[in-house]
Amino acid sequence: MTVKDDRAEFEQARTESIASLGKDKGVFDASVQLILDSDRHRYSYVWSWMGAPIIQRPADIVALQEIVWECKPDIIVETGVARGGSMIFFASLLRMFGKPDGKVIGVDIDIRAHNRDTIEKHPMASSIVLIEGYSTAADIVAQVKSHIPEGASVMVILDSDHSRQHVLNELRAYCGLVTKGQFLVAADTILGFIPPDKAPTYYSKLLAAGDEPLAAVHEFLAENDSFVRDPINDKLIMSSSPDGYLRRTK
Ligand SMILES: C[S@@+](CC[C@H](N)C(=O)[O-])C[C@H]1O[C@@H](n2cnc3c(N)ncnc32)[C@H](O)[C@@H]1O
Repeated sequence: MTVKDDRAEFEQARTESIASLGKDKGVFDASVQLILDSDRHRYSYVWSWMGAPIIQRPADIVALQEIVWECKPDIIVETGVARGGSMIFFASLLRMFGKPDGKVIGVDIDIRAHNRDTIEKHPMASSIVLIEGYSTAADIVAQVKSHIPEGASVMVILDSDHSRQHVLNELRAYCGLVTKGQFLVAADTILGFIPPDKAPTYYSKLLAAGDEPLAAVHEFLAENDSFVRDPINDKLIMSSSPDGYLRRTK
């Protein structure tokens, strides 16, 4: 008995589902409400990757996995290391996805001794480079560049200070590192969808709509035509970063 190969059909149906989900404002609004409700329990802080706390919601952990699988970068740069979970996550993906020499370069203004200890003792440690400093300082950006080999493909994730001006400065400082076809992700764009009176109070800063990453993304896209909003954003419900996934197209 021959079983019909329906892979193309499945992909087509999935593309249609994603596009219709992206247009469903009711689902998105319900997702924002669920994020607010679950945030009362600090939902984005409850997950780990390979034993290290990763401050991401599961939707982003899966979406980031998808873009790393698709793009297979040699280097992933992330601003915002915190407790190391996302560093370890990206390092494990690079190894699993056939990039044993791939590196994750993490920048954080404050790499606490216990967090450094977690990362440096982890089985993924040899794939991780840690740089301590203010992410947009010229010498820190230069240090990041010094770890990127000539000709390497590079993806960048921005997950540090989530104020509009800082994210805009990071987008400008790091966009040149992103190679064609790769992603530039600004995290926590969800803040741009939350009414100011409902913004969770435990974020590093209380950021009102307009002073948050989504506002920076819109300003950046208006001034830089090498990047576009990727369709992956259409399926980002229960995500910290809807509309934050940008792809370099030229
Ligand atoms: C949201 S946490 C990062 C979470 C991490 N990416 C994860 O997924 O587990 C934000 C981090 O950004 C760092 N940070 C804040 N402002 C910064 C700046 N100006 N430069 C570099 N790092 C900064 C903080 O110290 C904090 O560790």
